[in-house]
Amino acid sequence: MPDHINDNKKRVAQLKHLQAWETHSCRLLGGWQPGIRHWEAKHAVGFHLWQDIQTAQDIRTRLWELRVSRPDSSAVKQAVLPAIDKLASAQHDFEFIAGLYLGVKKALATAYRSYLADTQSTWDAPSIDILERAATIKDTQIAWAETYIEQVAKTDQEKHLVSRWTNYIEELIAAVGSVAGDQDTAEALPDLPPGYDILLPFGEAKRDDRFEVQLQGFDRPPLEDQEEHTLWQFVNYTMEMQAAETLGSVLWEVTDMEWNFYYDIARHCYDECRHSQMGEERIIELGHKIFDFPQFTGNYAWRQLYDPLRRYGMLTYVIEQDSFALKHETYKNYVKTGDSTSAEAVMYDIIDETMHIRWGQKWVPELIKYQNEELDVDALVKECRTAIMENSLSPAQRSYGEKAKKSSPPQPETPLS
Ligand SMILES: [Fe+2]
Ligand SMILES: [Fe+2]
Repeated sequence: MPDHINDNKKRVAQLKHLQAWETHSCRLLGGWQPGIRHWEAKHAVGFHLWQDIQTAQDIRTRLWELRVSRPDSSAVKQAVLPAIDKLASAQHDFEFIAGLYLGVKKALATAYRSYLADTQSTWDAPSIDILERAATIKDTQIAWAETYIEQVAKTDQEKHLVSRWTNYIEELIAAVGSVAGDQDTAEALPDLPPGYDILLPFGEAKRDDRFEVQLQGFDRPPLEDQEEHTLWQFVNYTMEMQAAETLGSVLWEVTDMEWNFYYDIARHCYDECRHSQMGEERIIELGHKIFDFPQFTGNYAWRQLYDPLRRYGMLTYVIEQDSFALKHETYKNYVKTGDSTSAEAVMYDIIDETMHIRWGQKWVPELIKYQNEELDVDALVKECRTAIMENSLSPAQRSYGEKAKKSSPPQPETPLS
């Protein structure tokens, strides 16, 4: 039996590095999501960042079985984080996708297969199951990126940028040693191309040219105007991409919280992409196209003026909490009027939102400690509510915030209960 098969220490070190690359790929995708213009790519990225953090979790669970309860050692951070900052410094969305998918994700797929070829198939069988799945997910993500890049980088100049940036990222990974941390002494990282600097965090959420973009949201039609109100509600769901983008920015900007924070925020971000997609699917069923309606992006933009704690507090403690009144009212109305499809969609949304509010209650106090914030939760939520009343460009958010100020907000019961 070759010696390397018995090298448990080497296997553990590889798994530690691989989970870190997956975790920080998730953070990078979150940070870049607002800066990606192409609508379908924004959705894909929201799904991929959730896949990446799930892969990281699977590997971390395996590491825990292998008696590593704290895989994020300073050596692992030193090996991964400086390269992550370089990866974030692409200047165009298609460059960023090319670097991450055709550089890092390809290297991860290779590293997973190399681990699978090297390890002992009986003793280490639980790792095999996890890494085979991880490699397959990477293949699918890479295939998506190849198609996306072909679609969006069409001119010679764009193709040149993709090729230069992909080459740069390959040099970067070579300098790191490998994404499995196999090289003891990493070289100095190569300098970014001239003029390149990090664009994150994005102050504005970008949309592609198929959309008309406006700052302000739409007024809510009367509930009795059934057709108009249903259309308004599901068009509004498409705007929840802004919530996903705010959460993506939080994933990126909060650099050193405990790992479970990133897992919950990534799921929250993915859920908001799903809510946006749910809106899109329903408005198609109602005979319209998403591009028939302007997208509003103003709420993302003003929220970026606040720190990540306040942004996250605004979303969970105020916007999501206050929206239950509207959601319950409309759910009951859809049931009453026999629109079971809209009712079901709203019910699933309420179930997701109930989780989001619970995560807010879990992580806002932790972010307060992390940021050395002077305000306690109550004072902070009060400040967040005032900021929303003053700045929100969504009439429904302001109106429900106003009602919540006067009465205690409804609790997030699900319509199933
Ligand atoms: Fe949502
Ligand atoms: Fe939500």
